[in-house]
Amino acid sequence: MIPLTEEQKMMQAMVRDFASNEIEPFVEKMEQGEFPREVLKKMGALGLLGIPISEEYGGSGMDFLSYIIAIHEISKVSATMGVILSVHTSVGTNPILYFGTEEQKKKYIPKLATGEYLGAFCLTEPQAGSDAASLKTRATKDGNTYLLNGSKVFITNGGEADTYIVFATTNLELGSKGVTAFIVEKDMPGFHVGKDEKKMGLYGSRTVQITLEDVRVPIENRLGDEGEGFKIAMANLDVGRIGIAAQSLGIAEAALMKATEYAEERHQFGKPISKQQGIAFKLADMATSVEAAKLLTYQAAYLRANNLPCGKQASMAKLFASQTAMQVATEAIQVLGGYGYTKDYPVERYFRDAKVCEIYEGTSEIQRIVISKHL
Ligand code: CAA
Repeated sequence: MIPLTEEQKMMQAMVRDFASNEIEPFVEKMEQGEFPREVLKKMGALGLLGIPISEEYGGSGMDFLSYIIAIHEISKVSATMGVILSVHTSVGTNPILYFGTEEQKKKYIPKLATGEYLGAFCLTEPQAGSDAASLKTRATKDGNTYLLNGSKVFITNGGEADTYIVFATTNLELGSKGVTAFIVEKDMPGFHVGKDEKKMGLYGSRTVQITLEDVRVPIENRLGDEGEGFKIAMANLDVGRIGIAAQSLGIAEAALMKATEYAEERHQFGKPISKQQGIAFKLADMATSVEAAKLLTYQAAYLRANNLPCGKQASMAKLFASQTAMQVATEAIQVLGGYGYTKDYPVERYFRDAKVCEIYEGTSEIQRIVISKHL
């Protein structure tokens, strides 16, 4: 395991405390569909919404590994909070930090890093999911502005966020080379928040459709040059996928802990079920997968923190950790038996929350495409 620095250990301890004192009591409300606005306010005050952002732009000035530690720890308690934090930071804020002009950074990053603003990322469209380059949202230049028209779907933090990184095409014939990125603010006329998706899990996180109807975006809000948008999206997804790996790892570890605790307490055939080989071996396999997912995730984060190439490792971590979350949550229900199938225990929530980790920020199949291209 990558040894943590004293600063990273302090972050881990602080986030663990925060998660059990501030997030845990809010889990039931999130399960009822409430967006955790008040928890986010507290996270903003503690600097948790700008962990890897330099102090110059209002962030906490910590490294990328500290940020991943935070998502991992938070997701053990609430995968909903984990994804809100990951999307806000990795794909809602970082595109501006890495590809923005100095003016864009000064205007938006301090607000995002302190939690005054929440960020979101609009790439996916009804007909452009895995094939992201086939997006159809149009950006038509009109003097010093662009007019944006189109529809986006499955937008995490949508409706709650203040800024949206929107990908649109300035030239449909150019395919991926026509894709251009924009910073769109929620109050821009023509920006409409549509249907809230009724999801299998992550009830407290909002996932909405967005419609752009002649949204006039000033040229100052174009991120990068015309045609650079696809690379901006891909580069940020490389990093974002480490966040989703950490979220998956948190779910898997929580499921393992709950299953182990239950197996020690539950007696059948005259001894704890943890002493029955069928269950003991199951727990051993679950623990081994969790450890492997942790190694991959922390390795990818370490590479990123040290500015080393991490695309392949990020996809491997995301692929393996999300599958681990699903498998371990499924086995945890099996260990708890009938009780695991009820809402009296959290393992059914872990199971429902885990599934989407194999889908968003690139499905498991897309991760295999990315990994195989690196081989
Ligand atoms: N970094 C920088 N540039 C990259 C890149 C990367 N990681 N990957 C590709 N590119 C560049 C390529 O170099 C190429 O440019 P050149 O022609 O100049 O060399 C260009 O982008 C096109 O590359 P490809 O031909 O490989 O592109 P493709 O159309 O075959 O698509 C893909 C590749 C990997 C399948 C991509 O479409 C993809 O990642 N799809 C999945 C989309 C996705 O992850 N969506 C998630 C939505 S966000 C979300 O889910 C957030 C949330 O709510 C939780």
